[in-house]
Amino acid sequence: SPLESAFHASAERHERFWIFGVLVMLVLLTIGTMFYVVHDYGLVTSTHSYATDPQAPPREAAFQDGKVVRTGPNAYAVYMVGRAWHWSPDVIHVPEGAEITFYVTSADVLHGFEIQGTPVNLTAVPGVVGTVKYTFHHTGLFRIICNEYCGMFHHAMVARIIVDP
Ligand code: CUA
Repeated sequence: SPLESAFHASAERHERFWIFGVLVMLVLLTIGTMFYVVHDYGLVTSTHSYATDPQAPPREAAFQDGKVVRTGPNAYAVYMVGRAWHWSPDVIHVPEGAEITFYVTSADVLHGFEIQGTPVNLTAVPGVVGTVKYTFHHTGLFRIICNEYCGMFHHAMVARIIVDP
């Protein structure tokens, strides 16, 4: 009947519309997820790397949890571990103008390692050591904050870097 074929034509239009709509949503979701991961997780900061090679377990064993080590006349290594909900070490002193290499990992869940007022921003990942170098050109207090939601006291996960003259 004419009524029936009109119904079929209409149903087909709706079907095509929804197939197209779902495809568009999938593409947008994929792009959005990629952008979120790359942008918000800090994977685009220029000067860091993540060690995930087969030598990682021995390096983990040698990881000097919570230590600041002088590695040269004007260079320091900082071994930083994130745990719910604090950073270890939670206060460090470094001299202005020194090259600081941060080795960052997590002992439990994902944490975000961000030094406020600097471009330093990477994710602390359990079992993985992230590396970022930075030189402070101002004396004073810098805060390390956790920018990756990690539970009840996420907001309190703050450490301090004191840059001495
Ligand atoms: Cu650690 Cu949020």
